[in-house]
Amino acid sequence: MIDIALMGHGVVGSGVAEIIINHAERINNSCKNNINIKYILDLRKFDNLPYSDKFITDFSAILEDNDIRIVVEVMGGVNPAYEFVRSCLLAGKSVVTSNKELVAAKGAELIKIARDKNVNFLFEASVGGGIPVLRPLVQCLAANEIKEINGILNGTTNYILNKMIVDNMDFETALKLAQENGYAEKNPAADIEGHDACRKVCILAALAFGKHVYPEQVSTEGITNISLDDIDYADKFNYVIKLIGSAKKLPDGKISASVRPTLVRRDNILSNVDGVFNAIMVNGDQTGDVLFYGKGAGKEATASAVVADIIDCAKHLDSRKYLYWDDGNDDYVDNNSTLKSKLYICVKSNDVSDVKSQIKKLFGDDIFIITNEFKNELAFLTNTDFEDSLYTKANQLKSITDIKILHTL
Ligand code: HSE
Repeated sequence: MIDIALMGHGVVGSGVAEIIINHAERINNSCKNNINIKYILDLRKFDNLPYSDKFITDFSAILEDNDIRIVVEVMGGVNPAYEFVRSCLLAGKSVVTSNKELVAAKGAELIKIARDKNVNFLFEASVGGGIPVLRPLVQCLAANEIKEINGILNGTTNYILNKMIVDNMDFETALKLAQENGYAEKNPAADIEGHDACRKVCILAALAFGKHVYPEQVSTEGITNISLDDIDYADKFNYVIKLIGSAKKLPDGKISASVRPTLVRRDNILSNVDGVFNAIMVNGDQTGDVLFYGKGAGKEATASAVVADIIDCAKHLDSRKYLYWDDGNDDYVDNNSTLKSKLYICVKSNDVSDVKSQIKKLFGDDIFIITNEFKNELAFLTNTDFEDSLYTKANQLKSITDIKILHTL
């Protein structure tokens, strides 16, 4: 029998406990051993559960119990999760976590401790919920040089945008539904302002390119500025708006990393990823594009990935799974690169015809402009060009009127 401890009994933690209990036979067969939840750490009381007797409030009971070989951290947040996880690894216990905030902030350090202690630190559930993506990225695509990753990495915002696009639902109502479904973070600002997707970009980039990327290095913008009009203009150009997380290898060995609302062309497969689903497109130099798709949030899907990691730890109690990246550094991420882009620009002006002629002068006569007379708004897509050149022109427009810029994919 292998004793494990769960730290946290929220949406994901309760899902993990239920899967371990309800799928005991399958899991135990797979591990060739019985997995026993010995403790569940949570400050709240959970009476009337079949496993209510396992709840504790004192972390030291887990740390000091030598029978506990695997600890599952599903509390979320950096503190106190970081101290707890670090102490468990230092004590020679393997740790499984779904905590993307923790891995994005402290991953390099925690992986190093796990390596030194010859234990495992696994976090498949931290990116893409129930989608197997980290393991395949590291193992199945190991022969590739990864060129770029683009993905829909946040279920809540994808759900909200989809409701706005398909049902014309307003932002607040859609967010409330996402919360009721258990998709949103405790503080949904992390979802709608892009921080959750940013943390996932950090983890994917670290695994793909070998160096820690810190959240503050990722250029991050959420979806709170996206209006139903933007969605409508995008539709007229044959695009949909998605929150896209992206990491690209640059020719000089640095990377670019961003999270931003992006117009995705309808013939791009990512444009069809709806609701709480996530999709991560990885481009390898040997495979070309590989797509990972599935439920990116929610109790069962996320718990499924956590339990798979527990099984993996149980099968490798005395050997290490290879997951590693180096510390990052300040100038590793360069978001001012000279990549080529095509921008969506929405302009507000009381003098629509004057602005129209300015747009044509700056961006070319062939630019197709949508005019919304009722709102004094114009929207257009630029031709593809170097980003710095497009931004120089956009800034000239900005000097005379209000503009909103979005990238395209
Ligand atoms: N709040 C996250 C999301 C949960 O909506 O994707 C899964 O990481």
